[in-house]
Amino acid sequence: MKFSLTIIDKPTFPGSISYSLSLMMEEKMPEQNGLESKLRDLSLEPGQSQTAAAKGGAKKKKRNRKKNPVKSEEQGDSNKEDVSMKAAEITEILKSHQDEAMKNKWKFWNTQPVPKIDEKVAEIGKIEEDKDKVKADCYSLPTGFEWDTLDLANDAQLKEVYELLTENYVEDEDNMFRFDYSAGFLKWALQPPGYFREWHCGVRVSKNKKLTGFISAVPASIKVYGEVIKMVEINFLCVHKKLRAKRVTPVLIKEITRRVNQKGVFQAVYTAGVVLPKPIATCRYYHRSLNPKKLVDVQFSHIGRNQTMQRLIKLMKLPTDTVTKGLRPMEREDVPQCHKLYVDYVQKFNLAQIFSEDEFEHFFIPREGIIQSYVVEDESGTITDMSSFFSLPSSIMHHPDYNTLYAAYSYYTVHTKTDIVTLMKDLLIIAKQQGYDVFNALDLMDNHQFLKELKFGMGDGNLNYYLYNYRCPLIDSKKVGLVLQ
Ligand SMILES: CC(C)(COP(=O)(O)OP(=O)(O)OC[C@H]1O[C@@H](n2cnc3c(N)ncnc32)[C@H](O)[C@@H]1OP(=O)(O)O)[C@@H](O)C(=O)NCCC(=O)NCCS
Repeated sequence: MKFSLTIIDKPTFPGSISYSLSLMMEEKMPEQNGLESKLRDLSLEPGQSQTAAAKGGAKKKKRNRKKNPVKSEEQGDSNKEDVSMKAAEITEILKSHQDEAMKNKWKFWNTQPVPKIDEKVAEIGKIEEDKDKVKADCYSLPTGFEWDTLDLANDAQLKEVYELLTENYVEDEDNMFRFDYSAGFLKWALQPPGYFREWHCGVRVSKNKKLTGFISAVPASIKVYGEVIKMVEINFLCVHKKLRAKRVTPVLIKEITRRVNQKGVFQAVYTAGVVLPKPIATCRYYHRSLNPKKLVDVQFSHIGRNQTMQRLIKLMKLPTDTVTKGLRPMEREDVPQCHKLYVDYVQKFNLAQIFSEDEFEHFFIPREGIIQSYVVEDESGTITDMSSFFSLPSSIMHHPDYNTLYAAYSYYTVHTKTDIVTLMKDLLIIAKQQGYDVFNALDLMDNHQFLKELKFGMGDGNLNYYLYNYRCPLIDSKKVGLVLQ
């Protein structure tokens, strides 16, 4: 995942890779890169590191409003340019990313079955053949660290993963917000039908057993162009802040790959804000203010020079009632109909997840504070449309009045009879009623059909899609039909 907030005029480079000295050096075992001292630091009582991080974060530069005059909500609203026009802008920003990425040596990624950063890919298919023999032992961790398979059914262990992520996971580039996936959300995302515990892979400090690294995989059937492949989705890669830039990530990636290979799976899909070798698609986040005052207060969005708070609030005001006849929360009995609707719909995309009915039920049946799914049922009892969003709050790190930003993320919308703008407007109304501050959506699937009309503003975050050990030509964002949590 990638954190994104309302764009500012200057093209920002979300998640651009910093070229630290260690990247120029020979690949070293983490202990040679000063890990022992980090290990000592990590003997700190849990919580101390967070305080230290918070202190450090507070000193960080704040957005320079003069240099980077904000793109106002008003400008966002007038939205004179077509969303697709903005694709040109995205291409420009991406190009700069790619230029930077070309300079990287990719010491780790160049050893992996992924296309080179400058490779022009025309074919579709596996890069490496499936392995007959998979390494039986775990990859070596530096002295002082050990692997642990997390048991998310165990509340204490689930809490440890939650805490690692809530204190160390993805932040915006000014370190003002950090994703705060709830424990329930993690269970939902990481325990779908057919999940393996071995794929919830943690790294602990041997001495005090503190969890300092995590990576996960869940099974998924992914359609790439015309082919459906058994893959895994890799997610929640996280290294504790005190262990950064020590080459722990390559070990985590190699170890999860080994564990996945052991189960006979050799391909993966993953997303990241950073540019790595080599994206198969790039999507852009868009944001719809539901609570503009709070969003401006916490600097998630900014008020334009010719804008006033009052006008902005008026602009973003939504009706109190939904209008779509037959719109209601999805129920268990709807699953067969909705599943068929979904599977038929995603065929038109070049990248999509083909959920089994069980998986569909797991991922779409509403769970309070995690996933909301709505259907439109016509008079004959037929489900004609569905739409869903998940709840991913972020911690607001240094604000005197607010701790949490409540964000709804558009998940999957399938429309056959209801106009997509009307349907999504109703979802915005529902999200507003439920207390969300912002509704986020990527410019994938048919989302471009409602973003402009419903006053979404462009975000500063690109989300890159990747395949491991599979190559395919670039996919336009409108042809991406896959949303990862
Ligand atoms: C992403 C994160 C795990 C990287 O850790 P790090 O300590 O900065 O990097 P390490 O020194 O361990 O490893 C560096 C290697 O990992 C790669 N890397 C960095 N971020 C990556 C990512 N998100 N996915 C895959 N590889 C990544 C680097 O390109 C580099 O490989 P290279 O030599 O081929 O260029 C860490 O910054 C983190 O936990 N960030 C917060 C959570 C987050 O952003 N998770 C990823 C979500 S997609």
